[in-house]
Amino acid sequence: MIGPEAPLSEGIVDFLEENGQKVFGPRKAGANLESSKIFMKEVLTKAGVPTAKYQAFTSTEEEKAINFINEFKSSVVIKTDGLAAGKGVVIAESKEEAIKEVKEFFAGKFGDAGKSIVLEEFLDGFEVSLFGISDGENVICFGSACDHKRIFDNDLGLNTGGMGTFSPSFLTPQEEEEFTTKLIVPVVDELKKRGIIYKGVLFAGLMISEGEVKVLEFNARFGDPETQSLLSRFEGDFYEVCLKA
Ligand code: AMP
Ligand code: GLY
Repeated sequence: MIGPEAPLSEGIVDFLEENGQKVFGPRKAGANLESSKIFMKEVLTKAGVPTAKYQAFTSTEEEKAINFINEFKSSVVIKTDGLAAGKGVVIAESKEEAIKEVKEFFAGKFGDAGKSIVLEEFLDGFEVSLFGISDGENVICFGSACDHKRIFDNDLGLNTGGMGTFSPSFLTPQEEEEFTTKLIVPVVDELKKRGIIYKGVLFAGLMISEGEVKVLEFNARFGDPETQSLLSRFEGDFYEVCLKA
């Protein structure tokens, strides 16, 4: 079982499977859902899964990116296309701040990960992490958890990969099933259409506001630290679940 995103994105599953090993986790092409936010947004859009309105830019398109920022009415969310250990997202309160950030991203603040970016609308609401396990055809819901993201007490400071989690979250088991069907299944189907058989965990970061649910991002693995609260609740043979996937 591959835990972190970096080896998944580099194709460790492809390598191990080609060498006859049983592995639980997606191949490189599937892990791209997490390692490229531009790919993820494009797949979600094609699959009809609700997500924040966005546009993608590369560092040669700084002027276009700045023009796009000037159209915003809300805060602007700036994201690296590539992996940045959960830290490559900046929420800019003003246009000036957004423009300054975009320049820094393109100048290498996050290395190559930020040489392509996604600019998207700010979504307000409650966040929750939803987990599905897929064998490439079917998806089962593996529950949900809430993440404490900010580094300091009282929900202050910069976002981290997660300081702690709790599960069950505020979603009911019915909502978990409904959201899995509505938000995760279409992604597995869309990948299949592209010849990508996704095996492993699909972790959807959701934002819920006024009864509306949107996907903020997908991860190609269990969450750290979400796994601790999720697996503590699991009653059954987890090895068997992974083997079946
Ligand atoms: P991500 O890596 O895309 O999940 O972003 C990391 C964190 O940034 C999320 O867990 C949210 O707390 C926040 N975030 C990302 N995108 C948005 C958005 N469009 N609106 C508001 N907050 C966001
Ligand atoms: N806790 C969030 C993550 O593992 O990406």
